[in-house]
Amino acid sequence: MEFSIKQSSPEKQRSGCLVVGVFEGGKLSPSAQALDKIAEHHLSDIIAKGDMDGKPETTLLLHNVANIAADRVLLVGLGKSSEFSPKQYLDALRSSYGALKKCACKDAALYLVDLAVQGRDMTWNIKQAVLAGAESRFRCDQLKSKPAEPGKLRKILLACAEKPDTNAQTALNQSVAMTHGIKLAKNLGNLPGNICTPTYLAEQAMELAKKHKLKANVLEEKEMQKLGMNSLLSVTRGSKQPAKLITLEYAGASAKQKPIVLVGKGITFDSGGISLKPGEGMDEMKFDMCGAASVLGTMQAIAEMGLELNVVAVIPSCENMPDGAASKPGDIVTSMSGQTIEILNTDAEGRLILCDALTYAARFEPETVIDIATLTGACVIALGNVATGLYSNEDKLARELLDAGEYAHDRAWQMPLWDDYQQQLDSNFADMQNIGGRAGGSITAACFLSRFTKEYRWAHLDIAGTAWKSGKEKGSTGRPVPLLTQYLINRAPVKV
Ligand code: BES
Ligand code: MN
Ligand code: ZN
Repeated sequence: MEFSIKQSSPEKQRSGCLVVGVFEGGKLSPSAQALDKIAEHHLSDIIAKGDMDGKPETTLLLHNVANIAADRVLLVGLGKSSEFSPKQYLDALRSSYGALKKCACKDAALYLVDLAVQGRDMTWNIKQAVLAGAESRFRCDQLKSKPAEPGKLRKILLACAEKPDTNAQTALNQSVAMTHGIKLAKNLGNLPGNICTPTYLAEQAMELAKKHKLKANVLEEKEMQKLGMNSLLSVTRGSKQPAKLITLEYAGASAKQKPIVLVGKGITFDSGGISLKPGEGMDEMKFDMCGAASVLGTMQAIAEMGLELNVVAVIPSCENMPDGAASKPGDIVTSMSGQTIEILNTDAEGRLILCDALTYAARFEPETVIDIATLTGACVIALGNVATGLYSNEDKLARELLDAGEYAHDRAWQMPLWDDYQQQLDSNFADMQNIGGRAGGSITAACFLSRFTKEYRWAHLDIAGTAWKSGKEKGSTGRPVPLLTQYLINRAPVKV
C-alpha cells in the first residue's frame, strides 16, 4: 500500500473513494459538511432517513454523489463527538479500511487525520492511519501454493484541510518504515519451525544487514563454547539444528555514542525439551522466536528511517528439543557470567539462552539494554493478550517504554521486580534454579534475568501474550515493533 499526505478539499478531490466521518446523532465532520453542501444535502438527507447514525463501527458506501470529482463516498461512524477518544479514532480507521477492502476502488482519500482526537496530535493520527492501513492489507500467504488475491486498494491519500507541515511528512515516512518492520516480524513469526530454524534466522539477519548496511556477525556453537555460554548451549543440546548467536549493529550516530542493545529470544521451536509440553497447541511454540523477529523488524524500521542512534541487535537462537543428549531436570550448568544454574525444568529455556546473551551484551558497552521474549505462560495469565509485561531496573526507562507503547498503541504494563521475589530462585545445589514455582511466574522469570543485568540500565518485555494471536486469527501480531520503534524515535535527536 502506498501512502501520501496533502492538503485537499473533498469536493474537488479525484479518487476511487472519499472517506468522511459522521458522529453519533448525525453530526457531520468538517469534510463531510463540505461534501454535503456541494452535493445539495445528499448526506444529511441520508442521515435524516436513519441509514447512517454515526455509531462506532458503522459504514455506508454511496455512489453517484452529485457535483463531486470522486467515484464514491464512504461514510464512517465515529461515535460520540464529545471526548472523541483514541479508541474511537482507531475503530473508525479499522471500519474504514474494512469497508474499502470490500469495494472495487483502487485508491481512496481519507479525511480523518485532522479530526481532533483527545490527548493526541495530528502526527499520532497520521501514524495510526498508516499502521491500520497496513494491518488491514496484511495477508499470511507465504506458504500457500497460490498467493492470496491481492487487494485492489493500492493508494491511500491522507487528506488534510491545511497544508501538512514537515512533522506530518516525517510521521508518514516513519510509520511507513514501521509497517515494513512489522511485516518482517509477522512473516518471520508465522514461518514454521522446519523452515524458520536458527540458521534461517541468521540468514535473514545477514540479508537485512546487506540491504541496510548493518554490521552482521553470527557466532557458532564452537565460539559460544569458548565464551563459556554453557547455559545457552544447554538448551540446544537436544536439537539437530545448530544454535546461532546473531548480532547486527546499526550505526546511525558517532562511534562515541553508546548503543542501545535489543536482545530477542529466538527459540525457533519450544517443545519443552525433556520437560515436554502437552501436545495440544504445541504448534504455537513456533512463535517462540517472536522476540527475535521483533528485534529484526525494529532494526529494519530504524535503518529505513535513518535514526541518528547506535543500536545493536543480539539474538540468541536455537531449538528446545527432547533427545538422548538433551539437558535433564537437575542438570547444573555454569553460565557465561560464572553463576551456576540448576535446570529444574527444561521448559524454562528462554531465560537460559537470554542470560548468556545478556552477559554478552555488556561487551557493546550499552547505554541501555532491552530484552524481548515470549518468556512465560504466567504473563499471559496476568495480563492477557492486551498488555506486554514490562520490568526494569530503572524507573525512568520503564516510563519511557510505557509512554512509547501508549503512543504507538502497542501497550505495556509495568510489573514489580522487588527483591522479595528473588528467594523463589534459591537452589540447594547451585547459585540459582531456573524456575521459581507457580506463584508470580512472570516475575520470577524477570528476577532470574535481573541477576545477569546488574552492569547496565535494563528492561525486559515479556511478550508471551501479545506476540501472536491464537484461534481463528492465529498468527503473529508483529508486536512489539511499534513500541520499540517509537521508543527509539523518541530517543533519537530531532533532525532540523
Ligand atoms: N515459550 C514458553 C512461554 C510461553 C508459554 C509463551 C505459553 C506463550 C504461551 C516458555 O519457554 C515456557 O515454556 N515457559 C514455562 C516456564 C515454566 C516452566 C516455569 C511456562 O510458562 O510454562
Ligand atoms: Mn519453554
Ligand atoms: Zn520458550
